[in-house]
Amino acid sequence: MYSSSIFETNLDTFSEQEPQRAPIGIFDSGVGGLTVLRQLYRQLPNESIIYFGDTARLPYGIRSQAEILQFTREIITWLQQQQVKMVIMACNTSSALALETVRQEFNIPILGVILPGAKAAVQQGKRIGVIATPATAKSNAYKHAIIEIAPEVQVWQVGCPEFVPLIEQNRIHDPYTAEIARAYLKPLIEQEIDTLVHGCTHYPHLTPVLRSLLPSHVQLIDPAVHVVVACAQELDLLGLKNTHLPLPTRFAVSGCPKQFSQSGVQWLGYTPMVEEVCFTDTAISQLH
Ligand code: DGL
Repeated sequence: MYSSSIFETNLDTFSEQEPQRAPIGIFDSGVGGLTVLRQLYRQLPNESIIYFGDTARLPYGIRSQAEILQFTREIITWLQQQQVKMVIMACNTSSALALETVRQEFNIPILGVILPGAKAAVQQGKRIGVIATPATAKSNAYKHAIIEIAPEVQVWQVGCPEFVPLIEQNRIHDPYTAEIARAYLKPLIEQEIDTLVHGCTHYPHLTPVLRSLLPSHVQLIDPAVHVVVACAQELDLLGLKNTHLPLPTRFAVSGCPKQFSQSGVQWLGYTPMVEEVCFTDTAISQLH
């Protein structure tokens, strides 16, 4: 069972009587989705948000498609139980490997980060590099999305297995992180890219490190910015934009709440209160 929340009663009432006041559910494997959360705060300050970090099972980027699909189903099932009005996959790996399937399975708007990121990238450049988790790079999701929009554009993708563990361990400013980043960027710099896409929501946390290694003319694309633009449009279209004051953001993780809270403070500027959620077979069996 998942732990109960002080917000549940309010949210039930909102979702039935005033659906626009229901929260947006966003999820990632860990702290990466906080880059999307920050954009939600900037662009949609009236929205209430439930953030889920699947920290017990990260990194996602070395998992199989079947595992990612199962985790994604469990999380969306749980978010639906929390009465969210929309889900944002603040995770490229889930967006690449599970978005199309779960969109057909759940009766709720679900947004992924890859298409908004690809659209933004083709507006910037013609020689596009994508850094991503191994699973996202292997899926070719960015390459396909970019080429479908702009067939003349060239795309190079690099899987970066070491980045997420380093970021989750808070080793952003460790000299080893810069060394690894240099190695990942080398083939892209050699191809003379003009644009680099953060193909993992964790990577904007590394922007100062990446910026110091890239030629200054290379534009950085953060899909988090653009998925929130798409979210705002979708809320408008569905008449679901909240015009009232939001509730405090609710945070839940599958791993250690204290660790997430301690790590999250630097990205959020406040110390989040974090609940622990354990998925049971019941949550999955409700769906299948
Ligand atoms: N931040 C996620 C992504 O955008 C997941 C990274 C991971 O857990 O490997 O892909």
